[in-house]
Amino acid sequence: MPKVTFLPSGKAVEFGPGQVPFQEDGLPGSLLDIALGNGVSLEHACGGHCACTTCHVIVREGMENLSEMSEAESDRLDRAVGVTLRSRLACQAVLRSGEVVAEIPRHNRNEGS
Ligand code: FES
Repeated sequence: MPKVTFLPSGKAVEFGPGQVPFQEDGLPGSLLDIALGNGVSLEHACGGHCACTTCHVIVREGMENLSEMSEAESDRLDRAVGVTLRSRLACQAVLRSGEVVAEIPRHNRNEGS
């Protein structure tokens, strides 16, 4: 069963094939879709249309389980703060199978402080 663990909270989300999409922002089955549909706060200023960088996440495990990065995502990601070789835009990275551990960088967390 596909599973995504979001850091730093450690919240793990498991779901079956018929459960996606969870909501309307981001590509169906994307990390953003999974986060928002399961109570994980993740900024998404453009509404999941690959037009900002606020949904930037760092994939700590399972990069191979995500969809290929498109040219549009790559171009957009270049402008993200603190981008790494393991960075993705959560609204564009679709979980295909297996497990992923994704860290929400400090500057993208909506911690209310
Ligand atoms: S929400 Fe804007 S690029 Fe992902």
